[in-house]
Amino acid sequence: MRKVPLTESLRIIARGSLNWLTERPIVVSFEVTDSCTCWCRHCDHGGPKDTSHDMKPVDYRRYMDVLGPVVVQISGGEPLMRRDLPEVVRNIKSDSGLPFIILVSNWSLMSEERYLNLRKAGVDEFCVSLDFPDERHDDFRKLPGLYRNLSEIVPKLAALGHDDIVMNNCITAANVNEVNKVADRAREWGVNINFSAYSPRRTGCRDYFLNTPEQLSMLDRELANIKSRLDKSHWITNNQTTLEATSRYFRKGGAPSCKAGLRWLVVTSNGYLQPCSMQFKRYAVHDQARMVREFTRTNTCDECYVSIRSYLDKGFPQLLRENVAEFFSFQSGQ
Ligand SMILES: C[S@@+](CC[C@H](N)C(=O)[O-])C[C@H]1O[C@@H](n2cnc3c(N)ncnc32)[C@H](O)[C@@H]1O
Ligand code: SF4
Ligand code: SF4
Repeated sequence: MRKVPLTESLRIIARGSLNWLTERPIVVSFEVTDSCTCWCRHCDHGGPKDTSHDMKPVDYRRYMDVLGPVVVQISGGEPLMRRDLPEVVRNIKSDSGLPFIILVSNWSLMSEERYLNLRKAGVDEFCVSLDFPDERHDDFRKLPGLYRNLSEIVPKLAALGHDDIVMNNCITAANVNEVNKVADRAREWGVNINFSAYSPRRTGCRDYFLNTPEQLSMLDRELANIKSRLDKSHWITNNQTTLEATSRYFRKGGAPSCKAGLRWLVVTSNGYLQPCSMQFKRYAVHDQARMVREFTRTNTCDECYVSIRSYLDKGFPQLLRENVAEFFSFQSGQ
């Protein structure tokens, strides 16, 4: 994975530490639309939605002024459904180069021209979902032709040499035996890979969680193999600690001490703050402190993988090195 240049890293660490101390969010995820091109089996966001109340590009600047995160995820729904996405990105990016911007997308609508325009507008990293190393991806996402499209566009854009594309594989009961094959595919396409884990909270469906001893043993075998590949690769962006925490998450059925609302939060497409994409308590943009008081301080939800990377209450530089660096695929030097 591309190294974040030293000056940018220092800026991120300085601002991140300040946000840490002043209880402003380190990471904000803007869900720029609820509409989507897919109908994924593990997600509650599928299909077209009413977009008439989506925020306008210029609105994002105001949210950045108030919230001031170091890292922004642009997500959805499917963000590439917005033709004005480069303008949204330009309004999020400041002259200092911050925040570090990650576009999380299924790439059903990606093209070389859009990729280059988005880079130019300020996207630092492209995070692309990949559930299977073959056409089963289409079946899981209920979009025929998606895998074929990825197998053409991903290597083509990787060959431009910017090293800013990371496939994201969400581990479920349906694909747990494919973890290393998915890594092989990313390698073959010349891009990076990051593994995350299924949460039943989105849809309420526990079928895709790892429920049986066989599934858990399969996970451990697959992750042991991934760990043995870490030393030789910088293209697998997970570190050993979070791979182990992933296994514990599935075994225990959760990950404790979530800091949603405080260390990170979501901005919905129509401009409300939410603690995370799976907690629907909504607040106005100036009301983060109230969200922390009312939600974060008493939150006992442990139902997703996001908190794995932030349950250690450490200073920001250490968090960046051990957790955030991997989560957002900064090169952490390990
Ligand atoms: C909600 S999607 C939005 C961006 C884009 N549409 C995409 O699929 O990449 C962001 C990420 O959440 C993941 N996701 C969806 N449902 C999930 C679940 N139940 N548990 C964990 N991750 C999930 C997706 O696989 C994707 O990588
Ligand atoms: S995971 Fe992404 S692509 Fe799939 S339905 Fe959800 S938002 Fe859409
Ligand atoms: S653990 Fe935290 S981030 Fe995950 S669903 Fe619960 S409140 Fe949201």
